[in-house]
Amino acid sequence: MSDYKFVDHTYDVVVVGAGGSGLRAALGAAQAGLRTACITKVFPTRSHTVAAQGGIAASLGNMGPDNWRWHMYDTVKGSDWLGDQDSIEYLCREAPKAVYELEHWGMPFSRNEEGKIYQRPFGGHTTEYGEGPPVQRTCAAADRTGHAMLHTLYGQCVKEETEFFIEYFALDLIMDEEGACRGVTAWKLDDGTLHRFRAQKTILATGGYGRAFFSCTSAHTCTGDGNAMVLRAGLPLQDTEFIQFHPTGIYGAGCLITEGARGEGGYLTNSDGERFMERYAPRVKDLASRDVVSRAMTVEIREGRGVGAESDHIHLHLEHLPPETLAERLPGISETAKVFSGVDVTKEPIPVLPTVHYNMGGIPTNYHGEVLTKKGADPDSVVPGLMAVGEAACVSVHGANRLGSNSLIDLVVFGRAAGLRCGATLEAGASQPEVRASQTDSHLARFDRIRNASGDQPVAKLRLDMQKAMQNNCAVFRTGEVLEEGVAKIAEIYGRIGGMDVKDRGLIWNTDLLEALEFDNLIGQAAVTVNSAANRKESRGAHAREDFADRDDKEWMKHTLAWVDEAGKVTIDYRPVHEYTMSNDIEYIEPKARVY
Ligand code: FUM
Repeated sequence: MSDYKFVDHTYDVVVVGAGGSGLRAALGAAQAGLRTACITKVFPTRSHTVAAQGGIAASLGNMGPDNWRWHMYDTVKGSDWLGDQDSIEYLCREAPKAVYELEHWGMPFSRNEEGKIYQRPFGGHTTEYGEGPPVQRTCAAADRTGHAMLHTLYGQCVKEETEFFIEYFALDLIMDEEGACRGVTAWKLDDGTLHRFRAQKTILATGGYGRAFFSCTSAHTCTGDGNAMVLRAGLPLQDTEFIQFHPTGIYGAGCLITEGARGEGGYLTNSDGERFMERYAPRVKDLASRDVVSRAMTVEIREGRGVGAESDHIHLHLEHLPPETLAERLPGISETAKVFSGVDVTKEPIPVLPTVHYNMGGIPTNYHGEVLTKKGADPDSVVPGLMAVGEAACVSVHGANRLGSNSLIDLVVFGRAAGLRCGATLEAGASQPEVRASQTDSHLARFDRIRNASGDQPVAKLRLDMQKAMQNNCAVFRTGEVLEEGVAKIAEIYGRIGGMDVKDRGLIWNTDLLEALEFDNLIGQAAVTVNSAANRKESRGAHAREDFADRDDKEWMKHTLAWVDEAGKVTIDYRPVHEYTMSNDIEYIEPKARVY
């Protein structure tokens, strides 16, 4: 092995990832007087949060009556009762506070006629505990809400003197012999140096792993690097079988067309020109929850009512909306539709297809952001020194299906919670144990092995095989047979990793090596995802089994925990769902049939 040397750094808090949750956590830690670093593989304002369009959910009540209890009810129902209700209460109660903070930091929200933050309808958000009409709860900055949020948070972080390490690729968690996290190692892409960041708390904010699939709305950077580090540290991921398909990815390109388009009055039709959602969700129609709409679209296509030459997609209509509304509320997707499908939205429908969009599962945490594992009898034992927030984490507020616009609010509510927890539990500048070579030898060995890989399997081929297997065998509708075939395909790809081929042996801007490391991160997550999906023998939220069509609360109202070993063998266990709220201000919401 080459003789690698580390450059050493010590901070109170190290955040990995500079999207919405990472920046919000870093900001909170810095505001608490803790010396805070943020490591990121892309420039902060290019993190994938920048692509979030439609908005951020909070019961501000600016457009009509609303309250956090209705938001909580909708989120529990949206999760198909797999969400932890203490965490969901925290999310919905704290949401207005987190949005007003953003407003006061200068986030350029769109405005209603009274000059208050503009809010639009989004799928699954209702009034009166699901009995009333849809509510306008999603706070928006036109259809560029994530972009506005990211720039606002980055500015605040710079003001609070968060130290940024930009274009550093995190390699692995530094774990001590007692199982505590002591920091993280990273590779600096532009000069090839290796770095050891020692910290009292390491916060993973590395986003999802949409790129394990062939067609997704996620950026190419969405490779779940933090999730993979957790798996390599011998810790589990939770509920990875729940993959969200966004109903309206552009056919072919996969780019997102915001649900806000339907919130503003857009609707879907099949080849008969029928507004088919009226049959599947008679009350809220096109504003049903995403899993419901994606399944309805898939059924229409399967039954021969898709549009286009191959009857393989669906139409989204906006051309009936006033051009001024499109220009003011939906300028971004109007441009995206033109560029990626050649459609002028004022004149013709957009061709769309359900597309992988979000990972409900991830690193298990409590509502402070502390990472959980299962030790002996304690299913909620905390991993000292390690936290996770954002899409990387599974708090679990989204359970089996996330409501649109509950992602951006998850980022800032739990990013803020993590910062507060650090402030409450850490002493600035407290001494930290030395990092020993034995704690990072495996990081270097993996890095060196992949850097010098010289087999006959190009990384691009391995990645494509994995993406196709996940797309075809872990799709909107699933059967045991198709999932087991997926398990076998991913195991076969795992078996070929030893033959990986990396051509560039350099250390400076070596994108060949970077993509190999990212593939190595993705494949472990693909393995736990497809194995967890094959294991869960019921239908719940986004996990729709044709061979087990019903939700089975008796057997399956529990979180899946999945570990993977170096050979790709997956082990599964469970944690109970938190069937209790955080306070007495709202009662536990009892499970019932989920109809819209
Ligand atoms: O449709 C959208 O604008 C996406 C929002 C979300 O995933 O929360």
